[in-house]
Amino acid sequence: DEIAELARSHEADLVIFDDELTPSQQANLEKVMDKSVKVIDRTALILDIFALHATSKEGRLQVRLAQNQYLYPRLRGMWAHLASNRMGGGVGSRFGEGESQLEVDRRMVRKRITSIKRELADISKTRTLQRKQRYHSGIFKVALAGYTNAGKSTLLNHFTNAGVYEEDQLFATLDPTTKSLDLSGGQTILMTDTVGFIRKLPHHLVEAFKSTLEEAKYSDLILHVVDASNPQKEKQMEAVYDTLKQLGANESPIITAFNKIDLLNGDEILKDPNAEAVVRISGENGEGTDQLLEQIEKILQKQKLYLEKLYGYQEAGKIQLIRSHGQLLKEEYRDDGIYVEAYIPKEILGSI
Ligand code: GTP
Repeated sequence: DEIAELARSHEADLVIFDDELTPSQQANLEKVMDKSVKVIDRTALILDIFALHATSKEGRLQVRLAQNQYLYPRLRGMWAHLASNRMGGGVGSRFGEGESQLEVDRRMVRKRITSIKRELADISKTRTLQRKQRYHSGIFKVALAGYTNAGKSTLLNHFTNAGVYEEDQLFATLDPTTKSLDLSGGQTILMTDTVGFIRKLPHHLVEAFKSTLEEAKYSDLILHVVDASNPQKEKQMEAVYDTLKQLGANESPIITAFNKIDLLNGDEILKDPNAEAVVRISGENGEGTDQLLEQIEKILQKQKLYLEKLYGYQEAGKIQLIRSHGQLLKEEYRDDGIYVEAYIPKEILGSI
């Protein structure tokens, strides 16, 4: 009653609950509200926003899966007024005896869920294959993770001119975009943007977006982007770590980039005990991004093997491999062969 009264005094059209509502809670709430007022819960709102922003085939399928899974247990409430009104039994009836509209709808939604899952499984296979190829290539992989609107796409754009969609709106990024960029030491790394995280991410979504979110799990380094200008940043960081943990992606080293420092006035101390390194940056004007790349390089170096070896002249191809995947420190042409000192990723050890 209190909420209904508040809605009335503010002339609200919509009441959004910050937690998930059961279908009957929603129906009861709608009963006490004025007719024109709609009631939705957090999950429905997030699903709507995701649906607006999904652009790739995978993104759209993932959202549709989550929407249908959300809908399924709610069908009963939606058809409550019809449930007692059996449609079967009559002459020329379309449905089998005793079959209610609710059952028909349920079957339809179930079928839809199965078919979307099948399509997603195909896409996920391709993604796993691509990921494997990237893994075996030995190229160092960095996954951008962060609360929605933290500035991940802006940063990736800054580094790579990737043309990644960036907007001042929530969940602008639903589709992971992987771009390569060169560090000053000469190595190439891959940087992947992931979907924006959010506090209390509805479980349907975590489930549906698993393959996208898993990019973080299979990376060598997680670059955690934080909107340092947001007064809720501590809570947002916590939400990101919770989600990473849920995904089992909490083993890679983390660099935390406190972004949007151009909006901060003063020397606010920014800390993150979960991170190996902390950098202050602005993806917008590029401040601090060189230091960020240096930190990435440092961690990359730690994960590499140091190599000293004399190769025969016929093995020049291997040196090319070291040059493209690692960091060639020394290359001497001697009488007995080519002497090399280098850092290499462990994945290419077998090949060289
Ligand atoms: P999701 O796709 O929702 O996960 O967002 P995202 O983390 O990819 O954020 P995005 O790059 O789309 O940036 C969100 C907003 O913050 C945009 O309006 C950017 O212009 C703005 N922004 C990003 N970096 C900076 C920065 O360093 N300084 C300022 N002032 N604004 C920034």
